[in-house]
Amino acid sequence: MKISIIGTGHVGLVSGVCLAEKGHQVICVDVDQDKVNQINQGTSPIYEKGLEDLLKKNLDSNLRATTEFYRAVIETDLSLIAVGTPFDGTEIDLSFVETVSRHIGKVLKDKDAYHVVVVKSTVVPGTTDEVVLPILEETSGKTAGIDFGVGMNPEFLREGEAVHDFMFPDRIVFGGMDQRTIDALEELYGVFDGADKLRTNNKTAEMIKYASNSLLATMISFSNEIANLCSAIGDIDVVDVMEGVHLDKRLSPILPDGERIFPGFTTFLEAGCGFGGSCFPKDVKALIAHGKRHDRPMRLLNEVMRINEEQPRKVLSILKNHFPRLEGLRVTVLGLAFKPGTDDMRGSPAIPIIKELLAQNALIKAYDPVAKSNAQGLFNDDNISFCKDLDDAVQNVHAILLITRWEEFKKIPELLRDLDQQPIVIDGRRMLDKRSVARYEGIGL
Ligand code: UGA
Repeated sequence: MKISIIGTGHVGLVSGVCLAEKGHQVICVDVDQDKVNQINQGTSPIYEKGLEDLLKKNLDSNLRATTEFYRAVIETDLSLIAVGTPFDGTEIDLSFVETVSRHIGKVLKDKDAYHVVVVKSTVVPGTTDEVVLPILEETSGKTAGIDFGVGMNPEFLREGEAVHDFMFPDRIVFGGMDQRTIDALEELYGVFDGADKLRTNNKTAEMIKYASNSLLATMISFSNEIANLCSAIGDIDVVDVMEGVHLDKRLSPILPDGERIFPGFTTFLEAGCGFGGSCFPKDVKALIAHGKRHDRPMRLLNEVMRINEEQPRKVLSILKNHFPRLEGLRVTVLGLAFKPGTDDMRGSPAIPIIKELLAQNALIKAYDPVAKSNAQGLFNDDNISFCKDLDDAVQNVHAILLITRWEEFKKIPELLRDLDQQPIVIDGRRMLDKRSVARYEGIGL
């Protein structure tokens, strides 16, 4: 199939490269000429495991990038809209989706063949039918359902695992205004056998995406609320509590041979210093705003966000129990990315933690295996220095705050063993054995 993908961000580029790998003819479109050049030279503008290799492999045969919007759309059978939908503080900003829809509509005006337009960006329920479709009709002067089809196909990629998630999907959701649109999506994804495919209308497809992310975010805030109560009561460790919860056979089923399966889902039921990233915070807030618009206050999700916004501060309040005055205190912040496996700092709990430490004149050493240069761009202050390695980061400090679950941090007990002065380790991810360091504290302990 000939496909144009509008927007070469995380979702657009990964989708483009993977669909090319699966044998489709893909043109990636972006307004940014530098990005387009980079892609055409075989360099990925974003870091994502395995992406650049696949990009190089498919360039020239099945894949190319361009800024020529008109040609890309007119020469292809189906366009995927994969532009950003940032949260503007009140609701999601649909301006990029609207602009792209207008441009596509203008091309459709000149196109005789039937074309399918599919929204892949995360948009609140109703956007595809009530915003995109009318813009397409208005600018093309044609009729949806006759001259062109309109669909919605949410993506479920995790940052850092995006190529794998795309190539081996757990589900593919086909939203479509009619059967013809859904048939086109069937053809597009026919190359992915084995994945569960769900056919539905556009609004349901949009809602599936929000419901999925909201559920995972809720699990995290639920675990954190329990953790905070465990700390308040005393003599309870949330790690033991959640282990007991995970052993419910409905969460971790027992196979006939007696073995347990621990689904990935249970990792969202662990206490920590909160979720971040470019998706969970934005999507939950967008759904809350959308609920308000429909006169349905999202009470549970409001609390999910509130708990999450307060959670990074729990690490600091543990620190203050030990050191009531933070001025001049030497503190190491370990982990700056919002999760391991990425250099992305968007929504990272490390940000409010560092800001507060700086406000209180603490002296910070910060270390992250990959996010250092992003962090340097965010914090320009004499009181923060960025360490080259973990060994350096743990030396000569009063306290270590563990914020991101990087595997490398499991070496901390070993690195601390020979130090004369033992720092206090505050484990914001509960990833270390509490008996493995001399002075251990953690969320939910
Ligand atoms: C999330 C979803 O997991 C994807 O399914 C979805 O497609 C994506 O958002 C999106 O909407 O585009 P992502 O933001 O890449 O993916 O990150 P996750 O790995 O889900 O992590 C999000 C947050 O949850 C992180 O702050 C992380 O620390 C936390 N988390 C993640 C946990 O607490 N436990 C886990 O097991 C995984």
